[in-house]
Amino acid sequence: MNLDRIHSIHELRALAQRCLPRLAFDYLDGGAEDERTMAANRFAFEQWQLVPRPLHNVSVRDCSVKLWEQRWALPLGIAPIGLAGLFWPGADVAAARAAAEARIPYILSTASSSSLEEVMEANPLAWFQLYVLNEELSLSLMRRALNAGCRALVVTVDVAVGGRRERDLNNGLQQPLCLSPRMLAGLLARPRWVAQMLRHGQPDMANLRSEQAGDTATQAALLARKMDAGFDWERLARLRGQWPHQLIVKGLLHAEDVARAFSLGADAVVVSNHGGRQLDAAMGCLHALPEAVSAAQGKPVFFDSGIRRGSDILKALALGASAVFVGRAPMYGLACQGQPGVAKAIGLLAQELDISLALLGCSSIAQLNHGHLRQSTCNHHFRSQVEASP
Ligand SMILES: Cc1cc2nc3c(=O)[nH]c(=O)nc-3n(C[C@H](O)[C@H](O)[C@H](O)COP(=O)(O)O)c2cc1C
Repeated sequence: MNLDRIHSIHELRALAQRCLPRLAFDYLDGGAEDERTMAANRFAFEQWQLVPRPLHNVSVRDCSVKLWEQRWALPLGIAPIGLAGLFWPGADVAAARAAAEARIPYILSTASSSSLEEVMEANPLAWFQLYVLNEELSLSLMRRALNAGCRALVVTVDVAVGGRRERDLNNGLQQPLCLSPRMLAGLLARPRWVAQMLRHGQPDMANLRSEQAGDTATQAALLARKMDAGFDWERLARLRGQWPHQLIVKGLLHAEDVARAFSLGADAVVVSNHGGRQLDAAMGCLHALPEAVSAAQGKPVFFDSGIRRGSDILKALALGASAVFVGRAPMYGLACQGQPGVAKAIGLLAQELDISLALLGCSSIAQLNHGHLRQSTCNHHFRSQVEASP
């Protein structure tokens, strides 16, 4: 498959739709209920516009950022994605390698299709994302991550119970897959995907395969996001004490929660609404960023949810994010071509970021600030191709 003719994440998404059967594409692309949070995430970017400040020398540009002791080539990382094996065999290792080659952060999901040990071997700088299932299982996963050399733990806190993704319910997506005649017809329209699955087997959640949760029923419970709904601030504080390295809290929108996470010892937070996949009718994620940044009082605030363009990244950075993460964008590339597809997505965003930075009149990420933004005065509802239903 020739990716040379793909010029944007929107085009990569369209190609991914042609590569994946409906049930896999919808799992990747969809959001909760009416997908209003997902739409709000995109719309939030349209409410800020960039203000260029030309006549600065931008002939040499530097998009790198330093997070703690590590310098990364871009202010952009790959967000954790569960069950990515549904898009490509060996998905997590492929994405982790693409991130390592691009010298950007990679967050490995609890629900990865390859084991965390395998992924850490492919990318020793990977961070591990923890879904809090029950205390014993969480501790065992943390121990494994620590033993595998992981230095940053990302605790996802926005899935106390699973959001209802109606596309998945309508498609009959479950673990393991039970083929209905309708599903079979859909799969047969994507013979390359079927051949890959036949060759490599159905993906499962490798980290849960071992120890306490060897059976597919427990994995299915995770897929349905049967998280530990009793997990609260007190237990987060306890978990903080049990992890000796960087701890990042993912999935906060309220400024008071950001302040509380830092007060109990978090090293960073991710302002995120899970890409609109959990609570529907939530605020567009970018709207939460300015107050979150001010509550953080100089500590790192990361951002994800809705990024499809380099200019989106610039807006989040100008609002004070230290770095951003992308979920669906690299997975569209993965679905098209595995590791080179992920590299393509990163490359597109990196190129757009570099061009927009130069046109804004900045030669480095550090020069970006709130002065490069104005709130949009247009109230028409902007809908990009990416929001259109497939
Ligand atoms: C298919 C899919 C699976 C995901 N799985 C996880 C996961 O296992 N853990 C997690 O913390 N977030 C998960 N997320 C949320 C992402 O980490 C991230 O917050 C979101 O995708 C960002 O929005 P974007 O896709 O618009 O970039 C998932 C997202 C998608 C699209």
